[in-house]
Amino acid sequence: MDQVAQVRERTDVVELLSEYITLKKAGRNFKAQCPFHTEKSPSFVVSPERQIWHCFGCSKGGDVFTFLMDYEHLEFPEALRLLAKRAGIELQQDRFLSGQASKKEAVFKINKDAADFYHFVLTKHPVGKKAMAYLVQRGLSDKLIETFKIGFSPRIGSGLAKYLSGKKKYTNEQLFEAGLATLRGSRVSDFFFNRIMFPLYDHRDNVVGFSGRILAEDASGPKYINTRETIAYHKGDLVYGLHITKEAIRKQNQAILVEGEFDVIACYKYGVSNVVAVKGTALTENQVNLLSRFTQKITVCFDGDSAGQEAIHRSLPIIEKKGLTTTVLIIPGGKDPDESLKNNELAFKRAAKHDENVYQYLLDYAMQKYGTDTIEGMKKITDDVLPIYANIQNEIIKEHFLKKLSVALDTTLESILSFSYFAKRRAKGSQSISG
Ligand code: CTP
Ligand code: MN
Repeated sequence: MDQVAQVRERTDVVELLSEYITLKKAGRNFKAQCPFHTEKSPSFVVSPERQIWHCFGCSKGGDVFTFLMDYEHLEFPEALRLLAKRAGIELQQDRFLSGQASKKEAVFKINKDAADFYHFVLTKHPVGKKAMAYLVQRGLSDKLIETFKIGFSPRIGSGLAKYLSGKKKYTNEQLFEAGLATLRGSRVSDFFFNRIMFPLYDHRDNVVGFSGRILAEDASGPKYINTRETIAYHKGDLVYGLHITKEAIRKQNQAILVEGEFDVIACYKYGVSNVVAVKGTALTENQVNLLSRFTQKITVCFDGDSAGQEAIHRSLPIIEKKGLTTTVLIIPGGKDPDESLKNNELAFKRAAKHDENVYQYLLDYAMQKYGTDTIEGMKKITDDVLPIYANIQNEIIKEHFLKKLSVALDTTLESILSFSYFAKRRAKGSQSISG
């Protein structure tokens, strides 16, 4: 029998999909919230008899292969290999294994070799000494460096390219495609040099790209450089650290969302393991979708500066839309988790235990910022939080916080409600003017 058919035969659609989404029996079929679009009532149907799935909301559908391809963003050969392994079938035709292996997988492989190279340079080669000293000074042990596979890209601009094309026999095209090298004139040159290298793993342990941090003493150039967009790396699809922290996130049903690589590593070091970084502050819908597969609660822990505050305002609707609970961890004494943990481990851990509901947090923050003793202050508080409260999906939670706002402003719920009605109309009106 054709091996594709064999794998399909041995993979039950209900069993497989249950590993990714929650299925509920509905007559002869199973139903679920569609993982491919946002919906309130389930229109995603799985048929055990026909071994297929279909969503009546977004009209996506298919079999076990297409589900895995859509859900995990895989090419067919990757999906086949995964399911074959799961079913205990050894694939004979190696057209799936080498020659025709997908382009994306080829990039994963070259990236993995690059990560090994950078890691070797950092930990074993004299060229990595300075970077190693820097990491030690920032509190990283050998074990942490191993766990996160941190490396160093040498100052000489073509060390990696030489290694990959010489020892590993990759073509220059492959180096370019992975974003590891560029052409300078006619010379092939490394994309990263003289930087501390963080391999960026997806949640399935593939190295999709890198982020490189400048060494402290060298002030020129941006602090962080990331791999450019490639077929394997899309900045907005990835959260840093998930490959290591996903079990802790699942177990605790909470993901603490921090800004940077060092924040993830510091949290992990001090035992706050359910953590990932957005890498910067622009949280995307894809990142939230990814996290929603592991947890129902996201705790935002951005830097205490105004950029961090704005980031919370921007992130909230994205998390809300997915129906996840959002809380805020207020960082005590320090600009970011990394610093805070170093200054006072216990204070940070205490704060992590007392994460605050995001709606309460926004109200407290606005009240502190504007004060409730002037009309002007009250107006600003209303402008800040009312549009957010008016959009809360759950009616009970919405009323709860509108009440809180009315108490804070020493007014009635009725007047807040009529305000919120106008706030919504205003938002709509301005949309139609600008759009
Ligand atoms: N970042 C990025 N690209 C940039 C700047 C920042 O991707 N040009 C991401 C990195 O993942 C970085 C995070 O944003 O870890 C936070 O950046 P920043 O606040 O500048 O980091 P610091 O905490 O100041 O720097 P570090 O902890 O590395 O000393
Ligand atoms: Mn930092």
